[in-house]
Amino acid sequence: MKYYLEAHFNLSGYIPEESKDELQKIFNEFVTKTNETRLEGNFEIQKWESKENKLFLKIDSEDSLSPHVAILRLRKQLSNQFGKKYRLGVRGFNFDKYTIENKIEDFPTSEFTLPLTKKLDFKEQNGKKWVKIEIDPEIEEDFIEKGAIERIVRRVGEKISKQLYGSKKEHHEIVWYSGKKELHTDENPTQLMQKANWIQRTNYRNQWILSPTLTTLAEALKQIMVDQIYKPLGFDQMMIPKLVDWSVWMRSEHAEGIYQGGFEPYFVVQPKEPTPEYFEEIADYITITKTIPSEKLAEKVTAPIGGLSYAQCPPFWVWLQGKTLAKESLPIKIYDWSGPTYRYESGSAYGFERVDELHRIETLFIGSPEQTKKIGGEVREKLRLIFDEVLDLEVREARVMPWWLQQSHKEEEMDAEEELVVGTIDFEAYMPYRGKREDSEWLEMQNVSVIGHKYPKGFSVKAEENIELWSGCCGGSFERFLTAFIAQKGIDQSKWPESFLKYIDKLPEPIKFH
Ligand code: SER
Ligand code: ZN
Repeated sequence: MKYYLEAHFNLSGYIPEESKDELQKIFNEFVTKTNETRLEGNFEIQKWESKENKLFLKIDSEDSLSPHVAILRLRKQLSNQFGKKYRLGVRGFNFDKYTIENKIEDFPTSEFTLPLTKKLDFKEQNGKKWVKIEIDPEIEEDFIEKGAIERIVRRVGEKISKQLYGSKKEHHEIVWYSGKKELHTDENPTQLMQKANWIQRTNYRNQWILSPTLTTLAEALKQIMVDQIYKPLGFDQMMIPKLVDWSVWMRSEHAEGIYQGGFEPYFVVQPKEPTPEYFEEIADYITITKTIPSEKLAEKVTAPIGGLSYAQCPPFWVWLQGKTLAKESLPIKIYDWSGPTYRYESGSAYGFERVDELHRIETLFIGSPEQTKKIGGEVREKLRLIFDEVLDLEVREARVMPWWLQQSHKEEEMDAEEELVVGTIDFEAYMPYRGKREDSEWLEMQNVSVIGHKYPKGFSVKAEENIELWSGCCGGSFERFLTAFIAQKGIDQSKWPESFLKYIDKLPEPIKFH
């Protein structure tokens, strides 16, 4: 990597003539030390000069210390060594020009821009391809301190490789299959349920009303999960918040994946002033015109403060954030179905298998790596039993791109091992109405994930005696379970498996409409 930086320090007063030798000494030592501690590359302060209260520097570096890091170190040295002696405070620094040249694997297929970046140029030199990144000189000091420049350089590479190879999200490897099952229909399950008045679309996109009949079925499924998973494995129920502020999605890294292909949240805004006076004109307008003045209303609310729960577990972590867990409390085993979660499904209207407001059940566990792996395996086994035996569904398990990498839009490689170690297993159901088993799309109903240290780390959770903490979680939605079930078994209860019917006292009669 080749760097060139022009920058200046701002001092609290004029830099005296007699201090120049001292400055020269500081810079010489800095350069010598930098070059001595590195086997390769070259670092050079090409030129420096002081003008009034400003100290200008030109730094060249090739495969050596990056000049912005040099500036951060020099700032410290200058205030300690030099500033004290001459009673000058170092107020800070500004960049005048900063370019970074880095090798790239190939040129991008289409142009792109990046924040805090003034210009990106691509060139070929000596048979190698290079990008020249010009950093915006207005970049704030604290962004530089927090690693923004390193992330700009990395982001350039990531964007190019994504353009060249697309995302790796297609990963899908079938690791288990229930075998063929008795199928009682090949009709579209959404239509079957609609015709039976079990579900009804609302006026709002991909939102449904679940009738008493369908709710009874959802309740039965919950009961099955309690009996088969949560009671025997010792999970407790809790209620996780469903409104998620940015601080949570920053720590879970969802924020960085926003609308990038795996995380499509509903946003939440607040009133700028929550008073009758502030909203009086809106109320008057609605009363008189019977319409909503959307634009006027948009002016009276803030930018999003976060959104509606998307992946269910991230807001759980605020509970443990910054705490040290007692050894005796481990492992923690939780499940939550206390409210819907929301996903903005782009495109047209979908069936019941793809809803914007979904009723998910989340299974969450935290413990040592051994505990976490063990629980992940146990939950997977129990889920397999529920789908395969209790519901008698034709299902398979597939190793897929982990949900947290998908949602945060990271592209890390996952563990290649067959066994569930760190990674996600999806349960998928065959949907006869979509076509043949071999080439139709199966429905993803549920995942089981062992996540590793990501969440404890992201939310700064520790454990007594420095036990390494891992977590895992599993999510499934009743909409998906029921769609899969109806798609294979139809709506005629006489054909349903006894092991499921056992959980249904009496299915309420649907309301009839004339
Ligand atoms: N939180 C995980 C997900 O979003 C499991 O529910 O899929
Ligand atoms: Zn989760």
